[in-house]
Amino acid sequence: MAAKQKVFYICQDCGYQSAQWYGRCPDCQGWNRFVEEREQAPQAPGKNRRSQTQSPKHPQAVSLHEFSPVEFPRISFPWGEVNRVLGGGLTLGSVVLLAGQPGIGKSTLLLQLFGQLDSKQDTRPLLYVSGEESNQQINVRAQRLGIKGQRISLLGETNVVRLVEQIRTLSPEIVIIDSVQTLFHPDLSSVPGSVSQVRESTDHLVRCAKEMDIPFFLVGHVTKEGSVAGPMTLEHLVDTVLVFEGDQSQNYRLLRSSKNRFGPTDEVGVFEMVSEGLQEVKNPSELFLRERAQNVPGTVVFPLLEGTRPLLIEVQALATDSSYGVPMRNAVGFDKNRLTMLLAVLEKRAGLHLSGQDVYVNVVGGIKASEPAADLAVCAAVISSYTGKTLPDKTVVFGEIGLTGEVRSVQQASLRLREVQKLGFTRGLLPSLPAKASFDHHGIEMMEISSIDMLLSLLSMNTSS
Ligand SMILES: Nc1ncnc2c1ncn2[C@@H]1O[C@H](COP(=O)(O)OP(=O)(O)OP(=O)(O)O)[C@@H](O)[C@H]1O
Ligand SMILES: [Mg+2]
Repeated sequence: MAAKQKVFYICQDCGYQSAQWYGRCPDCQGWNRFVEEREQAPQAPGKNRRSQTQSPKHPQAVSLHEFSPVEFPRISFPWGEVNRVLGGGLTLGSVVLLAGQPGIGKSTLLLQLFGQLDSKQDTRPLLYVSGEESNQQINVRAQRLGIKGQRISLLGETNVVRLVEQIRTLSPEIVIIDSVQTLFHPDLSSVPGSVSQVRESTDHLVRCAKEMDIPFFLVGHVTKEGSVAGPMTLEHLVDTVLVFEGDQSQNYRLLRSSKNRFGPTDEVGVFEMVSEGLQEVKNPSELFLRERAQNVPGTVVFPLLEGTRPLLIEVQALATDSSYGVPMRNAVGFDKNRLTMLLAVLEKRAGLHLSGQDVYVNVVGGIKASEPAADLAVCAAVISSYTGKTLPDKTVVFGEIGLTGEVRSVQQASLRLREVQKLGFTRGLLPSLPAKASFDHHGIEMMEISSIDMLLSLLSMNTSS
C-alpha cells in the first residue's frame, strides 16, 4: 500500500513550517523562502523513522547520584588553538558543526586536524566523508598540505542511512562530514540541502555519534547573511557550533565557538593561511599589530577581550570635511549605531564639532570589536584624526562611554593589561579603577580617564604630531 504523502511548506532560513505557502515568512520575515516539501508521514514528521532505528527497549529513569564523577574523555590535537575553542579538546560522542563562508578553509582545517592524528598508533580509521569533492581532489589537497594519510579513509557516500551503516562497520575514531548540506535521507523527497534533509540527516548522525561514542565534525555552509544554511534547529541539534571566519583578502582566520555544551563559548583561535595550509598563530596580537603605522594620527591600540583571551588590535579612524549634505558615518568591525552615538557624545559633552565631518572607523584585520570597552579607543582615534595629533607612544586605550560622557569601567581590566605588558606597551588610558590595592596593573602606567572631555584635553595637549 502506498504511504500517504504529506505536503507542507517550509522556510529555508528559519525552518518555519506551514500547510500553506507564504511569500513572506511569518516567523523570520524573509521573502520568498518557502519551498514545498513532501514527507511520508503517517504520524508526525520523522516519528516513524525514529522508532525503527531506536532500540525497542524503553529507557528507565536513573538517579543522578548513582553516577561516579567523571571527566568527559577528549581527543587532544597538537593545535592548542583548536583545543581551546573546543573547551579542552574534542569530546567523544560530540557533534561539532563547523560553519563558514565558501572558500574560507573549512576543509583544509579539518583535513589538517586529521593529518595531525595520522601518525598516532591506532588501528581505527579517520573517516573523511565528502559529498562536495572527489577523492582525487582531496588527495591533491592532502599532498599540498603534506599529509600522508595512513589512517585517513575517504568516502563519497551522501545517503545518510547507508553512511551510518558504513560508520557502524568501520568504527572510525573521528568522522568528518563535508558538508552536511550534501547529505540526503532516501525517505524524503526534498532535495539535499533543504531544511528537512539537513535536519533529518543531522538527526541520524547525532544519534550515531551518541550510540557509538564517535565524535563528528559537520561542515555547514553559511548564507549571505552569515547564518548557517538550514534552520536554526540544526544549531540546536549539535553539541558545538564553531564558526570559521576571516577576510578572504587577508591571510588570517578566526575560529570561534558560538555554542559549546562541553566548554565555554566566545573562545577564539587564530590561524594564518599560507600555501602549505593553515598555521596556528600563538601570539595573535603581534600579528594584528605587525603592519601598524607609527606616529600617524587616527590609530589607537585596543586590548579586546575574546572569551577569556585578550587580543591587542588596531582601531583606526578618519575624520574629513564632509562634501555631502548629511555627513557620512561608516564603521567596519564596529557597530555603526554605536559610532553615531559616540560622535553625538563627543559633540555634546566634549564640544568637538563633528557635524561637518565624515567619520570612518575601521578595526584592522577583519576583527569585530563588539564590546563596549572599545568606545574609548574609538573616540580616541576619532579625536586623534580630527586634531591631527597622535597618541602618546606605546599606549593602549579602553573604557566604556555613557551618554553623559562618563567613562565606565570594563571587565577583566587586569587581564587586558597583562597582554598589553607582554607586547611591550607601557601606558594605558583607562577608566578609574575602584579597588586599587588588589588590582594588578602589570607595571603599566595608568592614566585614568573619567570623562570624554578629559580624554579630549589630554589628547589635545599631546604635541607629538
Ligand atoms: N594552492 C594553494 N595555495 C595557497 N592557498 C590555497 C591553495 N589552494 C587553496 N588555498 C587556500 O585554501 C582556501 C580554500 O580552502 P578550502 O577548500 O578548505 O575552503 P572551504 O571552506 O572548504 O571551501 P568550500 O566552501 O568551497 O568547501 C582558498 O580560499 C585559499 O585561501
Ligand atoms: Mg570545503
